[in-house]
Amino acid sequence: MANDRRPDDMVRITTPELADAFIAEQIKLVKEQVGDKKVLLALSGGVDSSVVAALLIKAIGKQLVCVHVNHGLLRKGEPEQVIEVFRNQMDANLVYVDATDRFLDKLAGVTDPEKKRMIIGGEFIEVFAEEARKLEGVQFLAQGTIWPDILESEHGIKAHHNAGGLPEDMNFELVEPVKILFKDEVRIVGKQLGLPDGMVYRQPFPGPGLGVRCPGAITRDRLEAVRESDAILREEFAKNGLEGKVWQYFTVVPDFRSTGIKDGKRAFEWSVIIRAVNTTDAMTATVQDIPYELMCHLADRITHEVPGVNRVLYDYTPKPTGTIEFE
Ligand code: XMP
Repeated sequence: MANDRRPDDMVRITTPELADAFIAEQIKLVKEQVGDKKVLLALSGGVDSSVVAALLIKAIGKQLVCVHVNHGLLRKGEPEQVIEVFRNQMDANLVYVDATDRFLDKLAGVTDPEKKRMIIGGEFIEVFAEEARKLEGVQFLAQGTIWPDILESEHGIKAHHNAGGLPEDMNFELVEPVKILFKDEVRIVGKQLGLPDGMVYRQPFPGPGLGVRCPGAITRDRLEAVRESDAILREEFAKNGLEGKVWQYFTVVPDFRSTGIKDGKRAFEWSVIIRAVNTTDAMTATVQDIPYELMCHLADRITHEVPGVNRVLYDYTPKPTGTIEFE
């Protein structure tokens, strides 16, 4: 099997057997490519990088060094899950970097959405490069590039979202074992590699993370309100059979306060906006119908359990005119 382009006649991986065959083939190819050298991987905990990590752990074990950069904008429980799955269960060589303060300090007072994205992306590369420099003898860089990334960059839709960005003196040879797969195939392969469903079937999550759900300048209190309300929303969607059925759902906490009453006292606090949408390609999206009782329960839980929040709103806007994210 060629490792560079998806052969036109390649059978779509839809079964565990086909996934196993793909895994065996890739293990062989990776071993041939890498030999006894070290491979570095930025492991975000997203589907693609997690599947690459699991595959490479199988192929080359401790020759793989995974670096998980926590930029402080991850969802509740995500860094812990990366450590649990990869370090504790798969015995991977995992470097965990808590860079929360670094990112939040750089982002303090920054309101422009594009500037926020640039800071998050730029700082990520810097932290990752610093960690890479601490390691000796790394010749390869693994990436979770998938086939649609290649097609989109070839058609000029987006710059290749993985490759590049690292300082020029770090010229690693790339290892991209899922490069010829479509997303649904990556998930099946991930499942066969023993990754938990919560990792393999998770909803899309933007690179700048919760940063784009904290519109305006990010503050620690609003960021915590986003993280906690998002965790409640995910818990309730799972309990009520909506997990896996709704394409993307999350909460947003804009930089806006309103008057309310808590414990008989005036409370001038944040509002949480819930967004839940369905789409096939993220170019357009429709709004999920949430049962009234569930909506009331969500409002009740969020206003009582999330500090600093006194209102919950639902966004009924399809795309267009709204985008899926707020920023
Ligand atoms: P929008 O907001 O443009 O989002 O309707 C469409 C899809 O893309 C995700 N998204 C991003 N993903 N970096 C990413 O990796 C980003 O900056 C970004 N912005 C939006 C969004 O979550 C949705 O699934």
